[in-house]
Amino acid sequence: MVKLETQSPAETKALGRKIARNLKSGDIIALIGELGAGKTCLAQGLALGLGVSPKDYVASPSFVLVKEYGGRTPLYHIDLFRINSTEELESLGWEEYLYGEGVCIIEWAERAGKLMPSEYLRIELEILGSRRRRIRLKAFGRHYQAVLRKLR
Ligand SMILES: Nc1ncnc2c1ncn2[C@@H]1O[C@H](COP(=O)(O)OP(=O)(O)O)[C@@H](O)[C@H]1O
Ligand SMILES: [Mg+2]
Repeated sequence: MVKLETQSPAETKALGRKIARNLKSGDIIALIGELGAGKTCLAQGLALGLGVSPKDYVASPSFVLVKEYGGRTPLYHIDLFRINSTEELESLGWEEYLYGEGVCIIEWAERAGKLMPSEYLRIELEILGSRRRRIRLKAFGRHYQAVLRKLR
């Protein structure tokens, strides 16, 4: 587990860019934390780090379930905030995204319950103050352990 703090949105985005350097096609990132914790902010940094052009990036995709981007690999930014059941996930093409070519970033990933794969990088964000966020990164699977080691 890696535990750190950021002091600004810019710092959270920079962390996303840094994590993205070690990601590859097919990787899965779960973002967990209350509204305003910084999940989308971190996702934006990840997207930029994966080569998505800043002018293509949509800051808040909460109104859609999935937004697809082209970077050095495809990126599927999934937001489960509005999901009501795991059945809905299946009709969204969940498996195709999860086991597809792109990197998946999943906000509110805990809502996927048992439909989460066994290997992924879990990132929990917690609000400590108006600009302070605690960020805990936990690797499930060897590949993600290696991603975390390169962050240290
Ligand atoms: N250290 C920080 N990291 C990320 N966001 C921060 C930070 N400090 C303040 N913020 C603010 O908190 C909000 C986070 O929003 P957002 O990323 O959309 O959260 P979420 O997707 O978790 O609901 C933004 O308004 C952002 O400017
Ligand atoms: Mg969000």
